[in-house]
Amino acid sequence: MHDFDPTTSFGPAVAARYADHVRGDEADASGLLAELAGDGPALELAIGTGRLALPLSARGVEVDGIEQSAAMVDQLQARPGGDAIRVELGDMTEVDMGRRYRLVYLVYNTIFNVLTAEGQIACFENAARHLDRTPGAEGRFLVEALLPETCAPLGQDGYVNAERVELDAITLDVARYDPTTQLLTENHVRLGDGGISFSPIVTRLIGPGEMDLMARIAGLRLVHRWGTWRRERYGTDSRYHVSVYGPAVDG
Ligand SMILES: C[S@@+](CC[C@H](N)C(=O)[O-])C[C@H]1O[C@@H](n2cnc3c(N)ncnc32)[C@H](O)[C@@H]1O
Repeated sequence: MHDFDPTTSFGPAVAARYADHVRGDEADASGLLAELAGDGPALELAIGTGRLALPLSARGVEVDGIEQSAAMVDQLQARPGGDAIRVELGDMTEVDMGRRYRLVYLVYNTIFNVLTAEGQIACFENAARHLDRTPGAEGRFLVEALLPETCAPLGQDGYVNAERVELDAITLDVARYDPTTQLLTENHVRLGDGGISFSPIVTRLIGPGEMDLMARIAGLRLVHRWGTWRRERYGTDSRYHVSVYGPAVDG
């Protein structure tokens, strides 16, 4: 897909509808994040409309955020509790918040929204720069993402998936995966009364092993890896992983 601009994926139309569909993991996720944040503060990379930041803040943790979509930030700030959250507009691979955190976190596969290996490493490096280094209270960087093989049939050239089938509309996920770049190019095509609409997105899929290497480049090491937000075992039947990194002893 030529000329795809990732900064346009979460514009006003998407932002306005974003909070309508919760993912269902908010209570478990904000519970684990609150435990890891302790006395805080916490920083969410790509905070969106506050799906997790708001419940985490409601649990008493001070939360800041970085977000590149002004439309998503507008939605966050209009929600109850949104005014308690400081958000800097910009790219999570480079924005400097000017302070350090007990917990930095990046959830909902959003590491995949950065489309090059260099950019994904820069994201780990920026998280590492923001971690509290106080002895005994070292900060943690949590990443939650699907395993690449659950996102797409990686061996095939392309696929069409019936994403939503309703009486008056259908939504098809039309995708192609390029193993040389690890880019999954998708278009969510909605056919309905209002005509045909397209929602294109490109993501760069990386697995936990590659993340661990990126973390090491950023001076971090893996501390925990769970298969669910409830700290269940990570294993061959896992669909996603919750990985927690801390400063490497020699990093
Ligand atoms: C799938 S949403 C996740 C939002 C929120 N973290 C959540 O869990 O609901 C992805 C968000 O990442 C933001 N985003 C993508 N790439 C970014 C980047 N490089 N820097 C900052 N925000 C980014 C998008 O604008 C969007 O709000």
